[in-house]
Parts: sequence; structure tokens; C-alpha cells
Amino acid sequence: MRSLTAALALLLASSCQGFVAPSHNSHQIITTTTPSSTQLKKQPLSRLSVATDINAVGAPGTADLPWSELGFEFRPTKSHLRMTYRDGKWQEPEMVESPYINVHIGATALHYGQACFEGLKAFAHEDGSVNLFRPDENAKRINRSGHRVMMPEIPVETFIKACNDVVKDNVAYVPPYGSGGALYLRPLLFGSGPRIGLQPAEEYTFIVMVIPVGDYYKGGLAAPVNGLIVDDYDRAAPKGVGAAKVAGNYAADLIPNMAAKKKGFPICLYLDAATHTLVEEFSTSNFIGIDNENKKYITPKSDSVLPSITNKSLQTLAKDEGMTVEQRDIEVAELSTFDEVIACGTAVVVTPIGSLTRFDGNGEESKYQFTEDVGETTRRLYDTVRNIQNGEIEDTHNWNYKVE
Ligand SMILES: Cc1ncc(COP(=O)(O)O)c(C=O)c1O
Repeated sequence: MRSLTAALALLLASSCQGFVAPSHNSHQIITTTTPSSTQLKKQPLSRLSVATDINAVGAPGTADLPWSELGFEFRPTKSHLRMTYRDGKWQEPEMVESPYINVHIGATALHYGQACFEGLKAFAHEDGSVNLFRPDENAKRINRSGHRVMMPEIPVETFIKACNDVVKDNVAYVPPYGSGGALYLRPLLFGSGPRIGLQPAEEYTFIVMVIPVGDYYKGGLAAPVNGLIVDDYDRAAPKGVGAAKVAGNYAADLIPNMAAKKKGFPICLYLDAATHTLVEEFSTSNFIGIDNENKKYITPKSDSVLPSITNKSLQTLAKDEGMTVEQRDIEVAELSTFDEVIACGTAVVVTPIGSLTRFDGNGEESKYQFTEDVGETTRRLYDTVRNIQNGEIEDTHNWNYKVE
């Protein structure tokens, strides 16, 4: 397990000249006040206070919530973290209790969609500790997304510390170990300053809100769902913003997504916008095809697909168990060769796909059928990643960051 302190030390050591990294097994924690990124960079970790017990952040799961009934929807918590970029620099972050935000009527996020967001989870372990899953990856991705729509960079260590501090302040809302739930973190970066001519804003707001969410698959992975291949709409254009987690990508998915649900397909698969011959990704999750006979894990390579952190993790686990991972073009016709198809993302980890249906212009249907029950590879990969997140097996890749 990697602690936040160790992670910060590594990051700081690589970015600050003359910084001496502390030993990895030190038990330092950061004090409750939230230093700015500049302070973080300058402050030697030896000045930070030392935790003596594992529950220094407090006990998870003490809020009065029906832990076994949580779904994936908004619920109020104690606070969210807020930080403003003004006069060319990030200001001090603060914890805010009100879930409302006062935004200028000319904010670029509202008019021009200058906004991007992230999604990650924190899990309670049996020892009472709370652990973020791969927040460094979300930090890197929010900066790639922000860069694409001309927003200022959030230093990786500032992002991780923001996640750490907001979880710590809301530790009562972290679902307890054994509930299968998690605290879902939704970092959001948007242009909050006014512009009427199209230009980037001068002011930005970064928030991290948290929501306790339940285990999507209570009692184990659910039966596969049927997906629809979308031909009437595209999610992302070549050289567009598909690889960025920008807000507008999701508004563009609303009509096809809701229409598919009405037709009885809970999930939509998008193709490449230029030719509609290649598989790209689902609305909010990446595509994985499994060929069990040849022990292959195949996922699309496209500049229009969002690089999923779950997909990246599952690829590593698949390689660990000897599978060959191929990231390459997948023709629609190749769908007939897969034994199992998975949609993967932070919210549910994996959604097993039972079939994919495509209608041609005349309403003729072609259907690609996969395993009727949850496939063996899907189940194995899911169990492994969930066991790592829950601290139940060794975290050999150092994906868990202990909240301190
Ligand atoms: C378009 C899209 N693809 C894939 C994913 C899955 O990404 P991750 O595994 O990082 O949650 C998401 C969710 O963030 C998404 O919105």
C-alpha cells in the first residue's frame, strides 16, 4: 500500500530540487489545515505532524445512512473542497459546507462548456483505514482534459491532497468496510470568470465533492446487460474532445442514451465517427473484448476514446495472469469473435455485456451474442480489482493511497 505521504514525497522529490524524500514507511500525516500547492511544494514533509494510530482520520461509516441501500445518486455530505484560480495562481483551498456555488452569469463554463471533471473512489479497509484508488491517474487526466480546453494546470500533488483532505473531512460518510460501498469523489474544474467573446476565462474554480455510493453488484456481479450499437449519433469526432473528460461530451450522449434505454437497451456503444466501422466506447465506459481460447484482452486504440483508469488497471491484472493485451482497431464484424464483452469504468468497475444489437437503415437487426451468464474472465478480473480496492489482497501495484 502506498501512503499519501509517500506519494507526495515521490512527486515532490521529482519536481523540487533539493527536496529530501522521507523514508517510505514513515507515518507522517498532513495537518488538518489545507496548505496551498505552493506551500506544499516548499514545506518539507518533516514539518508535518505525525500520526500514531491507523485511525488518525477518524472512523469511516459513522454517519446515519442506510449503508446497504445506497445507490449511485447525489446525497448530501458534510462538505466539499473548493479552490479558486485568480490573478494567475491557485488560491488557498477551503472546505465549504453549502452545496451551492455563486457563479458569474458570464462564466465560460456556462456559455462555452469550459469545464471538465473526474470520478474516483475511496474505500474503507478492515483495519479502519480509508484508501483512495489511483488518484494520481485522475490528477494526470484532469490536467490533460483541462489542457484541451485551455484551463490552468492543477499540480498533481495539490489534486491528491485535495482528494485526501475532502475524504478526511467527510470520513463519517465513507461506507464502512463490508458494506461494499465507497465514497465517490467528483473533482470538477470549470471556467468561472466571465467572457462574452470566445476566449478562455481568467478565473477558474476547482471543487471536489463527495457522495457515498453503494455496491452496484450487491451479492456479486449481475447478469449481463444488452447494449445497442449507435448509428444515428456520434460521441466524439476525430481530433475532437473524445479523449478529454469535458462536460459537453456527456450532454451529447443524452439523446441517444435515453432513446436506447426506452428501447430496452441500458447501454450504448459508439463507433468511430468517420467510418462507423470501428468500435470506440460506451457512453461512460471503455470497451473490452475477451477471447478466452487465445487468452486475449482486446480494447480499442483511438484518439477519441477516454483513457479509462479502470481499463488501465484491468489490463495490468490481465497481463499478471498471463493474458495478452491488445490495444488496436476493432472492426464491428470482429464482435462475433468475442466470448465476453465488458464495459468498464469507476462507477461499477465492470458491466458484463450479454449482447450488442445494431439496426441498419431499414430497421433490420444484427445481434452479436456473448456469454449468457457472467464470463469467467470478467468475474476474475472484477474480483481481483475489488479485492485490491477493499484491501483484501496484496496491492502489488501500489494503487491504494492511504488517506492521512
Ligand atoms: C466516456 C468514458 N469512458 C470511460 C470511462 C471510464 O473511465 P474510468 O475507468 O477512469 O472511470 C468514463 C468514466 O469516467 C467515461 O466517462
